[in-house]
Amino acid sequence: MKIVLQLFLACSLLIVAGGLSAAQPNPAGVTQASPVVLITGSNRGIGLALTKAYATAGWRVIATCRDPSRASELKELAAVHPNVVVETLDVTSEPSITGLVEKYRGKPIDVLVNNAGTSGRYEGQIPGQFDEATFTEIMRVNAFAPLRISTAFLDNVSASEHKKIIAISSGRGSVSKPFLERRAYFYDMSKSALNLGMRKLQSDVAEKRVLVGVFAPGIVDTELNNDLRNGVPAIRKLISPEESAAGLVALIANLSKENQHRFQNYNGETFEW
Ligand SMILES: NC(=O)c1ccc[n+]([C@@H]2O[C@H](COP(=O)([O-])OP(=O)(O)OC[C@H]3O[C@@H](n4cnc5c(N)ncnc54)[C@H](OP(=O)(O)O)[C@@H]3O)[C@@H](O)[C@H]2O)c1
Repeated sequence: MKIVLQLFLACSLLIVAGGLSAAQPNPAGVTQASPVVLITGSNRGIGLALTKAYATAGWRVIATCRDPSRASELKELAAVHPNVVVETLDVTSEPSITGLVEKYRGKPIDVLVNNAGTSGRYEGQIPGQFDEATFTEIMRVNAFAPLRISTAFLDNVSASEHKKIIAISSGRGSVSKPFLERRAYFYDMSKSALNLGMRKLQSDVAEKRVLVGVFAPGIVDTELNNDLRNGVPAIRKLISPEESAAGLVALIANLSKENQHRFQNYNGETFEW
């Protein structure tokens, strides 16, 4: 009798273990084989909308933000989407970066989205009031951090199936577009620097078959856009973060070796660099 009971227990354990390890979809269609996306600045604005879009599409999302204790909307989203994991990442903090790299060592990341950005202090970027500390802060967040994060997680991306690194840039970083404004010098310069850095990265990661996409998200109704305008009414109707995210997700899915040299807006329009 004792032997029969032991056999029954052993079989039950094997069945349960098999069930756990198999790639069975949960109700959202998420499996261990689902692709993984890591997004920076995912607690609000475009980053939060991208997190929602990928979560509902069944991806596993590593949703990073610098202070999860203040990320209530993101945590609510993660509570209803078990495929969303919230992680702390300050993109300008070396210990924060290396801590997360260590945690995810050996784990593939299909798509890395460098979304976190700052408008910087408005007053510090007007001719006559140029402020070095404002310049440094904007450059650190918008230009240096995406390169640092991309190279920090390069092994994870190159070990994945999709192998894509994305930078959320801005049409304001284009040096060919007409310049309409005398403000936000450093923000615009930071996006130009980001673009050039990412284009250089394209050739350096090509041997690992990693693609690098640089996209503009449109003119989006977020805090950053509001801060950049500093009370000046928008010249065009702002789009929602959700509309922007839907366009970006489609561009990311479509990113290829052939089109990665293009600088595309969320709606597929091409900007001159
Ligand atoms: N909105 C537009 O019209 C527009 C147009 C062109 C490009 N973009 C670009 O789109 C991206 C997203 O901007 P958004 O419009 O969604 O702005 P947003 O709503 O103001 O969000 C900015 C995000 O970046 C995060 N962030 C800033 N500094 C960070 C740091 N050191 N470490 C980690 N996260 C940091 C913020 O986190 P905290 O909450 O902790 O501050 C926040 O999650 C930016 O790269 C921006 O330049 C936006």
